[in-house]
Amino acid sequence: MEKKQFAYFEGKFVPLEEANINIMTSGFLYGTAIFEGLRAYWNERKEEIYIFRLREHYERLQDSMKIMRMDVKYSLDELCNLTIELARRNNPRGDTYIRPTVYKAAKQIGPSLLNNPSELCIFTVAFGDYFHGADGLHVQVSAWRRVEDNAIPARAKIVGAYANTALAKTDAVAAGFDECIVLSENGHVSEGSAMNVFMVKRGKLITTPTTENILEGITRNTIIEMAASEWGLKTECRPIDRSELYIADELFFCGTGAQIAPIVSVDRRPVGNGKVGPISDKIRSLYVSMCRGDVPKYSKWLTPVFKPDGDPMGQAAGKTAGCC
Ligand SMILES: Cc1ncc(COP(=O)(O)O)c(C=O)c1O
Repeated sequence: MEKKQFAYFEGKFVPLEEANINIMTSGFLYGTAIFEGLRAYWNERKEEIYIFRLREHYERLQDSMKIMRMDVKYSLDELCNLTIELARRNNPRGDTYIRPTVYKAAKQIGPSLLNNPSELCIFTVAFGDYFHGADGLHVQVSAWRRVEDNAIPARAKIVGAYANTALAKTDAVAAGFDECIVLSENGHVSEGSAMNVFMVKRGKLITTPTTENILEGITRNTIIEMAASEWGLKTECRPIDRSELYIADELFFCGTGAQIAPIVSVDRRPVGNGKVGPISDKIRSLYVSMCRGDVPKYSKWLTPVFKPDGDPMGQAAGKTAGCC
């Protein structure tokens, strides 16, 4: 029998099927909602599930709220605790995705952010790999441009901005590609549809700067820190031209959903020798073991749901040291 699933909705835990918003809700009518996407990794041997970088996701949620003039009713600790409590109630036995959303809740016509209270909802859902297969992705440089900071700031996870993502991703898939890389209006590489991009060139790790209309990815920051600490690989954050994609030795995407996803061709041109590159491969292997709780050095980034270890909100992790 299916387990009963709960959501956090309008201030309480309710059965998931009762967590419904009215069709006149502002956030639904105008896309004036912000969200986060977190993963929790099941470790069968330990019978435990670990939420990855819980606190950092809620720090970013609060930043998105600030940009969208949303009032903060919950502290960071409260947001983390609510999420742990919800995960416990839903009692997952496999990898899980956690989706908190804060939405403008007035039932009114007109997209104003003022005099428009916000509400929080959170649900969890079983979630495996976003990309299937280990052979790498074939991607297209999208004809769509990334939303600019002065249009809809990409550093906030604003629901309405994901129409841009949907157009770019859908056209890439419709054209027979796995994914796309989107450029900013200035022609520089921005990011994938819902993931950041890294390039390897002559042994150097390079990623796009935060000013290139990207979401400042938590996975991106994780890789920057991990690569420096594990292999002494410093990441250069600088604008990347489209043509650099064609001559890169390696390329990979990273994100909560995508995890680490190597790219083997761009616009039908092979990346490097057209196979998953060695640096992408070792980052991918370590990342997955780390998320599953098998690398003690990185347990600071994991929040166990069932057996708290004295650092329930991953507070020891703090802000990422190595980000740029
Ligand atoms: C537009 C966009 N860029 C990048 C990312 C990667 O961010 P993170 O690593 O924090 O998941 C996401 C993830 O959801 C995204 O939606």
